[in-house]
Amino acid sequence: MSSNHKLTIPDRVLLGPGPSEMPARVLQALAMPVIGHLDPAFLQIMDGVQQMLRDIFQTKNKLTIPVSGTGSAGMEAALSNFIEPGDRVLIGVIGYFGERMVDMAGRYGATVDRIEVPWGQVLDLEEVKKALGKHSYKLLAVVHGETSSGAQQPNIKELAKLAHEHGALFILDTVASLGGVPVEVDDWNVDVAFSGSQKAISASPGLAPITIGKRAEEVLSNRKTQVGNWYLSLSEVQKYWGKERTYHHTAPIQLNYAMHEALSIVAEEGLEARFSRHRQNAEKLWEGIEELDMEMLVKKENRLVTVTSVKVPPSASHDHVKKHLLEDYGIEVGAGLGQLKGQIWRIGLMGHSSRREYVTLVLAALREIVAAGGPQNAN
Ligand SMILES: Cc1ncc(COP(=O)(O)O)c(C=O)c1O
Repeated sequence: MSSNHKLTIPDRVLLGPGPSEMPARVLQALAMPVIGHLDPAFLQIMDGVQQMLRDIFQTKNKLTIPVSGTGSAGMEAALSNFIEPGDRVLIGVIGYFGERMVDMAGRYGATVDRIEVPWGQVLDLEEVKKALGKHSYKLLAVVHGETSSGAQQPNIKELAKLAHEHGALFILDTVASLGGVPVEVDDWNVDVAFSGSQKAISASPGLAPITIGKRAEEVLSNRKTQVGNWYLSLSEVQKYWGKERTYHHTAPIQLNYAMHEALSIVAEEGLEARFSRHRQNAEKLWEGIEELDMEMLVKKENRLVTVTSVKVPPSASHDHVKKHLLEDYGIEVGAGLGQLKGQIWRIGLMGHSSRREYVTLVLAALREIVAAGGPQNAN
């Protein structure tokens, strides 16, 4: 066994689909001393986090908290609390994370129907309307920013309206969108939205913001069966985050400091300025990709500004380029996932990583590596 136990972290430029880089202030927050999870000072930090999460979700929902766990824990909370065994649910699948919701919903005993499009495309309102009309659904869940394909689902307000007209709750995955593009929970009438800390918010991985509207709270309080997940059962978790302050589980203290600091930075920048920074940097990247004679998977009007999927050109190899970006430049980009494995690179410009100088850097590095040649894509 090696006697060298030194922790070594390489220098990286994080331009993948998450995690994004954390500002120095957020890193410093992670290094602050641990205090008790019921310490009055920590309770105050919790209140601050909750209020700033309401601001970023653009909601007044009381039940707005960061659940302990990554974005998938948010997804798990959003589904497990509203599904009872035997319920029928409809899930929009525009990529890998829609598939994950199908898998999870089934595990909580739902009969799951899916409405699906090829990865890179988005759901069509008429098709969703038709699908909703076929059965009585407990909920419709869709992904706002599909990180696996780089597509952003438009018409969220209209989708929520359709769900409600058919008596279903509307659940939205905003893991890759919150903090980078507008998410207007109240105006769009979203019943449940969940997210992750490590993408456009640029806090540490490990917390999943979630917000629950009145309609969803009612469904939760009218459940006939216990929530099938103890850890994420929101009625219990909320007793810790709400007035009662009852112990449920030990909150990850430092992750909440980091979330507090990251959300303060979002507030200081302002939502509008933040969204426009994300859009401008993404557009700069898209122009540069086209100048390199490369194509993007998603047509412009449906592109997610936080994650761009670039098709691997026939002259290049997915793995070779990805490896050299990392080894020669320290740049992390994402690989193609699932059915897009080996076919696209995913370039994330999220939160603190959404910077003009990084756009210039990744384009220059791509140009050099592709021009130098190397193995061609095996696919
Ligand atoms: C759209 C979407 N949903 C859910 C998740 C799952 O989040 P996590 O990996 O933080 O568990 C991700 C992660 O990339 C995502 O992009």
